[in-house]
This record gives sequence, structure tokens and C-alpha cells, in this order.
Amino acid sequence: MKAIILAGGSGSRLFPVTQVVNKHLLPIYNKPMIYYPLSVVMLLGIREVLLVVNPQDLEMFRKLFGDGTELGMRIDYCIQEKPRGLAEGLILGEKFIGDDTVCYMLGDNIFYGHSLVKVLKEAKEDVEKYGGAYVFGYYVRDPERFGVVEIDDQGKVVSIEEKPKNPKSNYAVVGLYFYDKEAVDIAKKVKPSRRGELEITSVNQAYLRKGKLKVKLLGRGFAWFDAGTYDSFLEAGEFVATLESKTGLMIGCIEEIAYRNGWIDDKKLLDLAERLNQTDYGRYLRTLVEQS
Ligand code: G1P
Repeated sequence: MKAIILAGGSGSRLFPVTQVVNKHLLPIYNKPMIYYPLSVVMLLGIREVLLVVNPQDLEMFRKLFGDGTELGMRIDYCIQEKPRGLAEGLILGEKFIGDDTVCYMLGDNIFYGHSLVKVLKEAKEDVEKYGGAYVFGYYVRDPERFGVVEIDDQGKVVSIEEKPKNPKSNYAVVGLYFYDKEAVDIAKKVKPSRRGELEITSVNQAYLRKGKLKVKLLGRGFAWFDAGTYDSFLEAGEFVATLESKTGLMIGCIEEIAYRNGWIDDKKLLDLAERLNQTDYGRYLRTLVEQS
């Protein structure tokens, strides 16, 4: 499986903060927002990633990640000329996906949870084996702000709607999806919604109509943030700061994950640490080598 992370968009809900800086490069506590979705993809063992970015931001992302070699990965870039909606990323990623399956992630979604990787890996393997699509539901107070999934007693998807006025459940659809390669053709057929966007929910609805959409619920032991608003942006940063200070362990530390995955060695990790100077982040990376 490969991964596509969407890091474009206008970020209009964070204006004026994002008038000149791309949202995904802003700090969630001690690291750029984009590190968090990238870390999830890495935890799933995915080494080939396509970042979909705005034309004016390409150089900054390249400066941050290069071609991914430093993390033992391959990171490619693709430009989205205008923010036409989340489903467009699948069309732009057609060549990149090829005959493979894809983990599709929104660059402002932050996940945390004890068995997160286990739950996600089960779904990933299911799509790799049987095809179709997988989405994840998370119980929220305000489902009308998100895609909403309705589920029957057997855990099957009944409906999935984008920002419904009268939500049929409290389960928000989080910004992480697994698809087989059909997703590209499905996305090509999607028509713009009332807000004028190619909605990812339309792609999921098409899978549902074919009887090929599955869902897993992320229970109360998980934290999920869509960090695209003032409040959730702040909450996500506070959450990461609190947990990191309690445990001394970092969340979304891409260098640590690359190291633990065996994608980079001691020397490379120490090199990366060196560039971060005498920050707590740099010290943390050095400690990983000392403790191993
Ligand atoms: C998007 C999706 C929505 C999903 C949400 C998760 O919403 O359209 O279905 O629940 O991401 O972050 P948007 O951020 O575009 O409003």
C-alpha cells in the first residue's frame, strides 16, 4: 500500500493565520502539523508517500522532507492548482497509485491511541486482500461539522453523508481512508457538491452503493483532532504538550518512527538530531540511540 497525504487547500477557517503560511506547516506544539499524519502512515509501515500541495508551498515542503531519503522513505509531490475538494487528490495521484491500494489521509488530522496501529492495520490488510474501502468513525458531540456514518447492529455501514443538518449518528468520519485502486475512477465521476467541492464522502457513497464500504469505530480510548479550526488547532497542541510532558515520549516523531522501523540507522538519527541543535527534540533523538 502507498499513501497520499493532502496538504493543500486554502486553510480559510484559520484566516488570518493561514493567509500566507500553509496550515500543515504550522506547529502543533513542537512540530509541524504534517508530521502527525505522516507519522501514522509510517507506523503502518508505508514507505511511499505522495504529498498533494499548493503550487506556492511546494518549495517549503521540499525543504522539510526532500525526497524522503533522510527518513528511509520515498516522498513525492504533486501540485493541486486550486482547492477543488478532497476527492481530487485521488485523481491527481492516479499514476502514483498505479495498481496498488492507497491510504488516503488529510494533512490536518491528528490521531492518538494505544491500539491505533493495530486497528488501522487490520483494515489496511483487509483492503489489500479483498479490495473495497475502509472508513473510521469517531464519536463526537458535533457530528454536523463532519462526514457522518450510520451503522447497523452488525457493524455495517447504512449511510454516509457530508455535514448533514440532521446527522443520523454521532460518528464523524475521520480523515483517514483505505481504498483499492478503483477509487481513482470513482473520484473522476464525482460531481461538485453544493459547496462546489469534489467531496471524499461522494467517493465513499459510491463504494457503499457497490456494497464495498466497511467501517471500524475508534472507541473512547482514542483521540482524534481535525486541527483546521482555531479551537481544535489549540486543543491538539495542548493535548500533545500534556501527553509528551507526562510521559517524556514524543507523539508524531517521524525520525523516531523511521529509526524504530529500521529505515534509518544510528548514524543517520544522530545526524538528524544534530540539525535540531540543543532543543529538547534533538536531545530526545540522541537519547533513543543511547538507549538502544
Ligand atoms: C473533511 C471531510 C469530512 C471529514 C473531515 C475530517 O471535511 O469532507 O467528511 O469528516 O474532513 O477531518 P472538511 O475538513 O473538508 O470540512
